[in-house]
Amino acid sequence: MNNYVPGPEDKFTFGLWTVGWQARDPFGDATRPPLDPVESVHRLAELGAWGVTFHDDDLLAVEADRDTAIKRFRAALDETGMVAPMLTTNLFTHPVFKDGAFTSNDRSVRRYALRKTMRNLDLAAELGASTYVFWGGREGSETDAAKDVRAALDRYREGLDLLAQYSQDRGYGLRFALEPKPNEPRGDILLPTIGHALGFISTLEHADLVGVNPEVGHEQMANLNFVHGISQALWQDKLFHIDLNGQHGPKFDQDLVFGHGDLLSAFFLVDLLENGGPQGVSPYQGPRHFDYKPGRTEDLTGVWASAADNMRTYLLLKERAAAFRADPEVQQALQDSKVLELQVPTLSPGESYDDLLADRSAFEDFDADLVGERGYGFGRLDQLAIEHLMGAR
Ligand code: GCO
Ligand code: MN
Ligand code: MN
Repeated sequence: MNNYVPGPEDKFTFGLWTVGWQARDPFGDATRPPLDPVESVHRLAELGAWGVTFHDDDLLAVEADRDTAIKRFRAALDETGMVAPMLTTNLFTHPVFKDGAFTSNDRSVRRYALRKTMRNLDLAAELGASTYVFWGGREGSETDAAKDVRAALDRYREGLDLLAQYSQDRGYGLRFALEPKPNEPRGDILLPTIGHALGFISTLEHADLVGVNPEVGHEQMANLNFVHGISQALWQDKLFHIDLNGQHGPKFDQDLVFGHGDLLSAFFLVDLLENGGPQGVSPYQGPRHFDYKPGRTEDLTGVWASAADNMRTYLLLKERAAAFRADPEVQQALQDSKVLELQVPTLSPGESYDDLLADRSAFEDFDADLVGERGYGFGRLDQLAIEHLMGAR
């Protein structure tokens, strides 16, 4: 189907660690060989991706010498025209980070984590990245006895303030994006949800340089509505990046292919990112970044197939969401349900609370019982969305 062939204009990006995951889990060994990042860049480019993202250590998958690895990787970018718009630091695999990085109880670990990150910020700038992600998977605890959370947040802030200052002083032009996750690998992770992260960001010295990189499955692990979370991040101008994948409700982090989980939520997410939902203007211009794990059951053929599936599913949903918005019946149902009326301010221009108090129709003459009887017809809207999603319209 020609319509669903991705191209650079779709801005699809993949973490090197996604296709490169060797499928080691807590119960079993790797089921796949290590992948050369150079091969990943070429394969993803052939599939229609726009760029790749990576942790510092991802580049070392098959080449231990950092300089050589960077050189080979740069050559692959040049050959394919792929970009590297986002980089991040691995502050979770090495045993030294077992109690965290920027919030480890051990001060020497915190200093090492800062240095490891600064070295990779230099590389991010060199490669022309615009976003630097912070996923604090090891920042947390298994018991409340082990972590002074207020001190940990002080240290988290201290670290991010220092790194933002460093990036700014060097003129790197990077924006930082914090990635929330409620748990796994730690029992409880600091900044567990989009809301926690947004609250924390407002306390930072360079709050303007810091936003969020929410991941579908991470909010859903906490039983939260991802579309609502993304909407609030957009509303606060803080959606700096996004991790797309699939998840079947609250359980371990599944990192499934995008849409291979809560498909209806994925439909409304794409509608929000592409159409701006009911507001009709796309609010997000950044990469559509896939952070998924090809199933442990798959061989390398399955890995590349699953990479393509992420993009194809996104484009299918984009088409369905456009059809949903263009359908006159949907537009009528939106009117009937007063969805667009929510965009009208509750007070008229120049109206004060005195005017509101003087408006008898707002209270004394308002028939709350009558209005309370009126249905909104949201079920009709839901059914229309499902029918568009299923290709029945
Ligand atoms: C996860 C996380 C990671 C991070 C990535 C960036 O699935 O738990 O999403 O994949 O996004 O490591 O640091
Ligand atoms: Mn995840
Ligand atoms: Mn992620």
